[in-house]
Amino acid sequence: MKFLTEAPEVQRALRKELLNVDDESEGRPLTFDEMMSPEKTPYFEAVVAEILRLSIVAGGSTRQTTQPVEFLGHTIPAGTNLVYLSGLACFNANIENEERLRSFDTKRMETAQKNGAGGRELWKTPTDKFEPERWIKVDSATGERTFDPKAGFSFPFGFGMRACPGKQLAMLELKIYIATLNLAFFLDRTPEKLSTHRAGMKLSRFPLQAYVSPKPWTSGSAMPS
Ligand code: HEM
Repeated sequence: MKFLTEAPEVQRALRKELLNVDDESEGRPLTFDEMMSPEKTPYFEAVVAEILRLSIVAGGSTRQTTQPVEFLGHTIPAGTNLVYLSGLACFNANIENEERLRSFDTKRMETAQKNGAGGRELWKTPTDKFEPERWIKVDSATGERTFDPKAGFSFPFGFGMRACPGKQLAMLELKIYIATLNLAFFLDRTPEKLSTHRAGMKLSRFPLQAYVSPKPWTSGSAMPS
């Protein structure tokens, strides 16, 4: 919610998409199924993906090797406990670090080199910025905007066989929560001393300050009353 509070223009754009209105005309409000469909609501998808990317609910995870693994020129023996910080790694996967990241290429396994970044590109804009647009792909011929889930590096639910089994449920809950709040309220700025992004860390990361200042929107408009 802090990210939305700090980005009034994102709240307005999201509400317009969910209400199916543009600057000239008002459409009919979207149904629940339409709201949950990335094709109908690319910006909504982008907002949720960006909130998850920046929140770093889980900063990483653990694994134990079942056989020797070659990793960046090192052999990790079987039975080794590993901790990986995917949150931090994704933050560093931006074009500013491109040269440094390329230097690992000679050491990466052949298969990893072949598969590359799995269709992902390094983030082009600063990774600490809340910017849902980074997830939007615009067709240069038609101007059509689509949500690109592989726009860049972000793995909030982990990966592989042990990835989060609650992902679908968590996504559904998050989307219902964010859409319901956004349709009902504009989140106004809160006093600076109540607005820090300081967080605690237990099994997952949680904010130490979570204040909002909800204001009802004027009916049918993308402005607060
Ligand atoms: C925003 C919400 C959530 C986030 C960001 C999240 C993130 C994660 C991450 C990063 C992992 C580790 C994956 C890995 O090691 O690759 C994980 C594991 C797990 N999550 Fe979630 N999770 C969320 C919600 C949920 C929910 C709602 C459930 C259950 C209903 C759930 C159940 C689990 C379980 C059981 C594991 C362990 C899986 C295993 O070790 O095989 N999570 N989650």
